[in-house]
Amino acid sequence: MTNGRISRRSALAGIGGTAVLGGVASTGLLASPATAAPAATPTPSRRPRPARGTALDHKANSLLQKMTLAEKLGQLQLVNLEDLARTSMAGPNPCGGVFSVVGAAKLNALQKIAVEHTRLGIPLIFGLDVIHGYTTNFPIPLAQASSFDPNVARTDAEVAAAEARASGINWTYAPMMDVTHEPRWGRIAEGNGEDPYLTATLAVAKVTGYQGSDYSAPDRLAACAKHYVAYGGAEGGRDYNTVDVSIQELHNHYLPPFKAAVEAGVATVMASFNAISGVPAHANVYTLRDVLKEAYGFDGFVVSDWTGIQELIMHGVAGNGADAAAAGLTAGVDMEMVSTNYVEFAQQLLAAGRITMSEINDAVRRILRVKYALGLFDNPYVDEAGEVTSVSASARAHARAAAGRSMVLLKNENSLLPLKKTGSIAVIGPLGEATYDLNGTWSGLGTGSQTTPPVTVVEGIKAAAPTATVTFTKGCEIDDPDTSGFAAAVAAARAADVVVLAVGESAAESGEASARSNIGLPGVQEQLVAAVAQAGTPIVAVLFNGRPLTLQPVVNAATAILEAWAPGVEAGNAVADILFGRVNPGGKLPVSFPRAVGQVPIYYNHLNTGRPADPNNKYTSKYLDLPSGPLFEFGFGLSYTDFAISDLRLSSTRLSRRGGSVTVSATVRNTGDRAGDEVVQLYLHDPVASISQPVRRLRGYRRVSLTPGQRSTVTFRLTPQDVGFYDNNANFVVERGQIEVYVGNSSSAAMKAVFTVV
Ligand code: BGC
Repeated sequence: MTNGRISRRSALAGIGGTAVLGGVASTGLLASPATAAPAATPTPSRRPRPARGTALDHKANSLLQKMTLAEKLGQLQLVNLEDLARTSMAGPNPCGGVFSVVGAAKLNALQKIAVEHTRLGIPLIFGLDVIHGYTTNFPIPLAQASSFDPNVARTDAEVAAAEARASGINWTYAPMMDVTHEPRWGRIAEGNGEDPYLTATLAVAKVTGYQGSDYSAPDRLAACAKHYVAYGGAEGGRDYNTVDVSIQELHNHYLPPFKAAVEAGVATVMASFNAISGVPAHANVYTLRDVLKEAYGFDGFVVSDWTGIQELIMHGVAGNGADAAAAGLTAGVDMEMVSTNYVEFAQQLLAAGRITMSEINDAVRRILRVKYALGLFDNPYVDEAGEVTSVSASARAHARAAAGRSMVLLKNENSLLPLKKTGSIAVIGPLGEATYDLNGTWSGLGTGSQTTPPVTVVEGIKAAAPTATVTFTKGCEIDDPDTSGFAAAVAAARAADVVVLAVGESAAESGEASARSNIGLPGVQEQLVAAVAQAGTPIVAVLFNGRPLTLQPVVNAATAILEAWAPGVEAGNAVADILFGRVNPGGKLPVSFPRAVGQVPIYYNHLNTGRPADPNNKYTSKYLDLPSGPLFEFGFGLSYTDFAISDLRLSSTRLSRRGGSVTVSATVRNTGDRAGDEVVQLYLHDPVASISQPVRRLRGYRRVSLTPGQRSTVTFRLTPQDVGFYDNNANFVVERGQIEVYVGNSSSAAMKAVFTVV
């Protein structure tokens, strides 16, 4: 059975036009083509998807008919804060949108120019990277993925949308949904880890949270699915790097979250910086037109990434700005961010027949539709009195709960955790009194958020355990060779009953352009951990980081390890909630933690190979100097209580390819003495298929809360969609044969059942 057939015809044909060597990058801003007269329209060689007959289309189409070419091209331009400072907005054809400007009054002033001082009064769209909070910083997205709880992602998006929209922002550049196998890549922090299914479910939750059912509402934003596509495949984890990917891998691994986001109605999509099998994403007819706009039916608009159109020159597929504009427009990038090739060269390209008026109209129509859907024509301004400049008590409570649900307990020997609230606690380490670093990447953009630093670990512990003696000794900086503070740290550890070691990365060590070739603790922190361990006091290591780290030195030294990621504004309180047992940790890793950086890429959903790792056979797929497998696997995480998962049952041992379904059920029971959460995970494996299938792939998960002794039956309904895959012709196929089902509490789940697809 084959659904969702997608043509491969232009998989490798990304750009139109002939590259001209020696072109010079254009730097002009918002320079409109000299005249307003539309150029002669050559016969369209490509037919953009026709507008749908909705009310939005009617509005967009009738406005489009009144627009001059210059006015249309203006809509295709997105400018940022720095460019604005150098630009006159008061010209006849202002840009379509402005981004990274915050402040309701500033935004209203800009809007006034567009609405009241241009011929057609088309409002601006105001964008911002509201990634994990506007004023209230939630945990970073990688942490949110650890919650295995779409409500965490949805709540973040709802709180952020309400704060940002009330402050004049109406478009966020989120959610980021780049699946990746690369812990070296700094942007792993912005996504949901290594699994396409988990990422897709969280992407949908975020889109829904930002947009609601109608994003014209005063507490909603237009969302942006980014970065389209395969950006997470950057070779070596170096940001912006090349990706060479098979068609099946593209469709099975990188595209599913985007498909899900489109199905959830995401308003916009951002192209990615990377090339995909030699064709830059910004010039990729296959991914943008054939897949996104045609096969998925995406009817929002595609925005370039920052100078992504201009960068087609450096990519070597455009000789100059005109080539770059032609390539981007032909491929279907509708709006150009920062660089200005569309406004500068589109008229000349039209005259030369290198682009068509229908391509321009399609791009403009898409942008106008989103502006109408945002309600901007009716309500272009924001009420300045409603601007959100601080963190409300309810937003704080949501952020604290989200952070608690996002932390992962990696080790807890001798049940060291939860701690008693008495005695002496030595907080040691460079993150113990850190503030903004606990927000992680992409924070502090919302108005006033720089005045709302996250709660520190020391503050959180002192608030939770007011009668304990709490000391703080930094020991060293986050990333600095100085070890002179070690002696004081060791002395503090000796004097205490327990050490809380707050170590990890700075906010700037993950995120964009923050690849690392070593992924251990930065600076001399590993030496600090070893030195403090010499004191012999039990250590709880609390890790703040935006990527998986190589943790063997920490595992050797610490009795308990809590992966806290970058928890956001309530960081210290959320950590204390877990340290003292107010919250029982239930998060799971959304990404494998390697033993050493040399194992990278290492991920749970790999192929078996012809020679899977066998410790007793040298000639198998492994390293001589490391045990096989990760240090901590995907889906792993401990709790203060114990759970038993049993009674794996199938409603049928046959699944019909013609619309059948199989219900998988299992019982989970809290066998310990504390209330807690378990994440029941369902993985599938197709052992014999026309192309090799991953050894496991996640197809269901459910986070359940159980009191001691309580049990619950969890069910998952599987359909042909769950067992099929894309082949190398981009056809979704569901093949006959056996499917193995694994259910448990990590990707190592052992409980197995089998059904047959017929
Ligand atoms: C990033 C995008 C971001 C954009 C606008 C780029 O450098 O890659 O993720 O949305 O800047 O700030």
